[in-house]
Amino acid sequence: MTMSNLYDSVYARSVDDPEGFWAEAADEIHWYRKWDKVLDDSKKPFYRWFAGAEVNTCYNAVDRHVASGRGGQTALIYDSPVSQTISSFTFRELLERVAKCAGALASLGVSKGDRIIVYMPMIPEAVITMLAAARLGAIHSVVFGGFASHELAGRIDDAKPKVIVSASCGIEPGRIVAYKPLLDDAITMSAYKPTRCIVYQRPMQPAEMMPGRDLDWNEVMASALPHDCVPVAATDPLYILYTSGTTGQPKGIVRDNGGHLVALNWTMSRIYGVKPGEVYWTASDIGWVVGHSYIVYGPLIHGCTTVLFEGKPVGTPDAGVFWRVISQHNVVCLFTAPTAFRTIKREDPRGELIRNYELSKFRTLFLAGERLDPDTLKWAEDLLGVPVLDHWWQTETGWPICANCVGLGALSVKPGSATKPVPGWVVRVLDGSGNQTKARDIGALVCKLPLPPGAFTTLWNADSRYEESYLSDFPGFYKTGDAGYVDEDGYVFVMTRTDDVINVSGHRLSTGAMEEVLSSHPDVAECAVIGVADEIKGQVPLGFLVLKAGVEHARENQIVHDVVRMVRERIGPVAAFKTAIVVKRLPKTRSGKILRGTMQKIADGQEYKMPPTIDDPVILEEIDEALRGRL
Ligand code: COA
Ligand code: AMP
Repeated sequence: MTMSNLYDSVYARSVDDPEGFWAEAADEIHWYRKWDKVLDDSKKPFYRWFAGAEVNTCYNAVDRHVASGRGGQTALIYDSPVSQTISSFTFRELLERVAKCAGALASLGVSKGDRIIVYMPMIPEAVITMLAAARLGAIHSVVFGGFASHELAGRIDDAKPKVIVSASCGIEPGRIVAYKPLLDDAITMSAYKPTRCIVYQRPMQPAEMMPGRDLDWNEVMASALPHDCVPVAATDPLYILYTSGTTGQPKGIVRDNGGHLVALNWTMSRIYGVKPGEVYWTASDIGWVVGHSYIVYGPLIHGCTTVLFEGKPVGTPDAGVFWRVISQHNVVCLFTAPTAFRTIKREDPRGELIRNYELSKFRTLFLAGERLDPDTLKWAEDLLGVPVLDHWWQTETGWPICANCVGLGALSVKPGSATKPVPGWVVRVLDGSGNQTKARDIGALVCKLPLPPGAFTTLWNADSRYEESYLSDFPGFYKTGDAGYVDEDGYVFVMTRTDDVINVSGHRLSTGAMEEVLSSHPDVAECAVIGVADEIKGQVPLGFLVLKAGVEHARENQIVHDVVRMVRERIGPVAAFKTAIVVKRLPKTRSGKILRGTMQKIADGQEYKMPPTIDDPVILEEIDEALRGRL
């Protein structure tokens, strides 16, 4: 069988006999008790994989490898140019620390089903906490460090964590980000209060502790007794990960234990083509799904060595740091976002720094998180001389929907396409009436239900929002929120979001959430936020403000300054909200809907059609003029 036939036959099996296919994949996982049913569809549309089975994710990611003789293999390499640290942990060392951390959490009353929020920078203690939560059957919710107090407070109120684990600070190039005051403010703001906070004190900026509530990580671990793995139902939640939706209220994506284990383990060899014992590196952050799946769980479950990199593609110290990490740690596969490569290209356009490093073990670069523009693809291919593969997925799906599966024989690359659906995923392009479009016609990208194992099972405490947001528009399908097309060879092209989500440096952000902040300014009558094209970050947010009648013209600059600061304080620096423009009116349809899509086209200098339903076409000319004056 040729390799591309291998992909075809594996794909066909996955859709013809999903239960047989995933049951076979599940054989690679350790179960305390096997399932009664591979797929339980008795409560449609809430499907459950491996119903009746008992399992533990931490056991599979750590203990299992020690038991099978990999105890001496490096499990995690911590490479932190921002703190000048490189250290590593074998699976045995990781097990020891994770078991103790689980013991410490248990001594604070954490048990199966309890939530733990993790608000930490990219340090080993963050990974240890995630695994320790999994060990107890507790549910972790990692909050990205670039989010500010208000966002954290919202997640605390929604998840109601018994314990929050944090660190005194994070390190961004050129500045220390004190996490603890942000955490303190968040707990002051939230209605729900956690019983305890464990804080890892970093020497760069230790935090002040609140007696009675805060505990020092080192002290707690010193007295902790190791705790064993607690078997949980395969269908029990492993984690909640909040992600941006259309409104300011983030969606708590729920991931189960069993399906997630089976799916991620399967992807490591079939998509990424890596074997146990090899070194796999994802340059992202544990605060994103990419970090959950491919810094922590995927590689460890598969018995790979994972790299935890606390740094940036440039400036820590230079644009050669990715090549240094690959070379120094014998990385075979790197996964990051295209924006990282655009940033490197800007600093070192001819890729001169790569010549200082020996990259003979490096086999593949995977990119995701945003559209991979053909220029960046070409630049990376020429520079690295290895396959550069785009793949498409989301927080909701937990692992790639479309990819070029190296382990099933790489297919030819078509620039602009994330290649074909991964086995397990049935992708369709539908028009507004739910009919399948012709090849190359753009429509909504949807996936047939049931989704494969490892995809989200619901939204935390919000089953009906799950159904309304994702399942109601196209009955029988999951709406991805992306639009795109499929060509005559079955290659999938993801073009744009269909909702108010934008993608800034591969980070998913809600323009709706930013609009909520802008409209809370006392002088703002109306506002809109759109994502405009940016050469490096892919997109950046841009605000439009209509001021209340009577607000003096002279105050405009101050108001813009205020809203920029407010977004940074309320959502966080990660929103990268730096510009707003004051306009007289916003363009709207006759029914009052703001024409964000048209505004975006004007801002990006693209052709646009005058929407037939616009209430006053002159406004678009005003917007055009305001943009030309400011951008
Ligand atoms: N804690 C606190 N602040 C953070 C942070 C964190 N964990 N992460 C980012 N920030 C801050 C940054 O310091 C920056 O602040 P500034 O406005 O004061 O400069 C702001 O949030 C915006 O961050 P970002 O959009 O990441 O821009 P950047 O210029 O710092 O870095 C890249 C740009 C491309 C280098 C970086 O985003 C990157 O490496 N991205 C690719 C990998 C990735 O993480 N992808 C995500 C999913 S795959
Ligand atoms: P997140 O949930 O943060 O992982 O963001 C998911 C969104 O990022 C998707 O819905 C897409 O809009 C975008 N995205 C991710 N990967 C790709 C890709 N390979 N090509 C185009 N867009 C992508």
